[in-house]
Amino acid sequence: MNTPGDRVAVYPGSFDPLTNGHVDIILRGARLFDRIVVAILRNAEKNPLFSPEERVAMAAEVFREQPNVGVDSFDGLLVDYAHRQRASAIVRGLRAISDFEFELQMALMNRRLGPDIETVFMMPAEQYTYVSSRLIKEVFALGGPITGLVPAVVEQRLREKRETR
Ligand code: PNS
Repeated sequence: MNTPGDRVAVYPGSFDPLTNGHVDIILRGARLFDRIVVAILRNAEKNPLFSPEERVAMAAEVFREQPNVGVDSFDGLLVDYAHRQRASAIVRGLRAISDFEFELQMALMNRRLGPDIETVFMMPAEQYTYVSSRLIKEVFALGGPITGLVPAVVEQRLREKRETR
């Protein structure tokens, strides 16, 4: 729970699945803010690999020993969700120039929709600048190694998913 005066940030995304690049940004955010809420968009893709419940469960497992990291899912406008969480900031990771254009559009749209909420960009550690959920899924599906690029629980769930398909 937030206490009055807490600086709260939301870190929104699809997280299908969570990668070590996301984890890196969340831990940086957890040092900057009193509380950071990983906010998993419920309807991000028409055909996600993991259900919102599975994505929430994996992230909750990864951060179960981080008291100021929360994990939740949301629908609808991000700024409405951020207001419900009493957040003053939206955290987004920037990996490369190619991320910038879309991120700028979103940040400015979110500023128009919720002028009291600031978007804060953070750069992940260099070793994750090429990591994306889409590439993880592709490499894993084709039998390539992804160890070290996703949390162990995510790698395990990917294996289980492959076995049940
Ligand atoms: O991980 P992603 O897919 O890059 O995350 C995109 C996300 C979830 C941040 C974005 O799609 C979003 O905020 N969706 C919620 C709907 C919304 O508020 N849209 C207007 C934002 S400009």
